[in-house]
Amino acid sequence: MFRHTAHLYDALYEAAGKDYAQESADIHDLIEHRGPGARTLLDVACGTGGHLQYLRRWYAVTGVDVDPGMLAEARAKLPTVSLIEADMRSLALGQTFDAAVCLFSSIGYMRSTDEMDVAISAIARHLVPGGVLVVDGWVRPDAWINGGTTTVETAHTEDATVVRVSRSVRDGERTSLEMHHLVATAAGIEHLVDHHDLTLFAPDDYEAAFRAAGLTVDIVPCPLPGRDRYVATKAPGDRPVSPAGPGAPPPHR
Ligand SMILES: C[S@@+](CC[C@H](N)C(=O)[O-])C[C@H]1O[C@@H](n2cnc3c(N)ncnc32)[C@H](O)[C@@H]1O
Repeated sequence: MFRHTAHLYDALYEAAGKDYAQESADIHDLIEHRGPGARTLLDVACGTGGHLQYLRRWYAVTGVDVDPGMLAEARAKLPTVSLIEADMRSLALGQTFDAAVCLFSSIGYMRSTDEMDVAISAIARHLVPGGVLVVDGWVRPDAWINGGTTTVETAHTEDATVVRVSRSVRDGERTSLEMHHLVATAAGIEHLVDHHDLTLFAPDDYEAAFRAAGLTVDIVPCPLPGRDRYVATKAPGDRPVSPAGPGAPPPHR
């Protein structure tokens, strides 16, 4: 994943025009519409905390991510926020939240529908009755550009100029992104390479995962082309949720 380049993540996406402030305001509107008065929020796969820094205007926030390098960047930005190293597939924080989010296609790192089911169910167990979950899917299989894509991006940090050249390919429902970074500083030029493997899940797969987790779900427009945003709600009348912990796995499909 971003093993070698967590320290470049913010600069690259800022240069690419990613607007975390606006995205966070949109997410807040969605949550407020489905679950008015939500006060606590869990960001699953929070990365460097790009959304958390804005979402904390409205919520007491907690972030989790599997990558210690991404969390280190988030901690530098948000020293007072609870940021926990955890895998979404085995999430068991012992806490519930009014809302949860899993943004920028992080769910696409699941390698199969079984893994996605497990992750969505684990996140759902961290919601209070009536809680809202927003998940941004990876590219829909029908929206993938045949033959793959190549891109180039540039960014500047305090002491470096970065060029990232990426290539993506598809093999069945698996997509692989290869990202090469040239990082130029006064001391020299480094070449850093990251690989990302994501799965092209169909809308039916996402919807089945939410249903298996006991959530009702709507698809709403996603700001990223070719992707969908899922807004799911836990039934308000559910029996009180015990502190989240390992539970029964969802049924196999
Ligand atoms: C594209 S980044 C998105 C980060 C952040 N949500 C954002 O919008 O900038 C994907 C993130 O998913 C995290 N991730 C991937 N697999 C994960 C897993 N199994 N559990 C938790 N986090 C995971 C990665 O470490 C990375 O920070």
